[in-house]
Amino acid sequence: MNAGIIEWECPSNIALIKYWGKKSGQTPANPSLSFTLSNCISKVKVEYEYDPSGMLSPEYEFDNLPGLFKQKITDYLLEITPIMPFLQHLRLKISSYNTFPHSAGIASSASSFGALALAICSIKEEITGSEIDQHSFFRTASYLARLGSGSACRSVYGGYVMWGFHDKIPGSEDEAALPLQEIGPPFMSLRDSILVVSSMTKPVSSSKGHELMKTNPFGSARISQAVSNMKQILDAIRSDNLNEFFRVIEEEALTLHAMMMTSSPGYILLLPGTLEILEKIREFRSKSGLAMGFTLDAGPNVHLIYPQSVETEIKQFIADRLIQHCENNLVIHDRVGTGPVRKI
Ligand code: PMV
Repeated sequence: MNAGIIEWECPSNIALIKYWGKKSGQTPANPSLSFTLSNCISKVKVEYEYDPSGMLSPEYEFDNLPGLFKQKITDYLLEITPIMPFLQHLRLKISSYNTFPHSAGIASSASSFGALALAICSIKEEITGSEIDQHSFFRTASYLARLGSGSACRSVYGGYVMWGFHDKIPGSEDEAALPLQEIGPPFMSLRDSILVVSSMTKPVSSSKGHELMKTNPFGSARISQAVSNMKQILDAIRSDNLNEFFRVIEEEALTLHAMMMTSSPGYILLLPGTLEILEKIREFRSKSGLAMGFTLDAGPNVHLIYPQSVETEIKQFIADRLIQHCENNLVIHDRVGTGPVRKI
């Protein structure tokens, strides 16, 4: 085929065991685990046309804002061209759109690189006229997404997804993510209410944060902790132990921020509102006995995680006690999702 249009929708993901610090070639210093979300989605449409003159110079539009991220996407396409050489003979028009507010302070790089990588794999199938098996298709998409943004490699699968070699997990590898099978109903039903404390762009990017881990004096202890927490969280999931699961994810969230504070130079992404929310969650949990726990991304927003069975009570708690700490009362209710979908 000489021309066509492909569109993929790919969700974001929230890490439970955090990828923080990398080795060369955008491979992770430690294994990580996330679940893929359902509502926070990037839609990426790619129109392609055969153009033998080459010169990769895509048209790119993000949320109808031409210019934003164009250079980043052009650099990415140039980087993956040695792996996907057909790209140099295509004229590309890419438009990317997020279902979650652009200004919610929620990173969209995982979902947008996930969707773009899937679209590139679909284009390859169309122009070569040969379909590859599902496993190879998604592994290649995960591999390509990783080169755009590490955490993006987990977003090309639904449910619970790990990335990074772990000697106790067969099939785990640094190059691409691995979807985990047979996760029990309490974990597949988990909700994630994202409490948006601030939508400001972070003062220190994740790329810089990963870089600073190279000289963090606690770096090697952190890697050992992540390896051990990965085993502990999988044991908790396999034995339906929600309390243990929440203990591990909170330890991971707090360690992530401790790593930022102990980097040189150290920095703090938590805000007063973040700390108020964390304290209230722990207080409400111990009074009510309800199953819940929090995690944090590399930013001030809190992800409150809980099973579907307590959704009514937790939404009431958010409305009564937490929403006051959110910017413009913004809370995004999401849940474990089933993964990306090809739309066109
Ligand atoms: O994929 P990056 O380079 O944006 O890094 C993501 C880092 C965290 O979100 C903090 C953790 C993770 O595993 O997603």
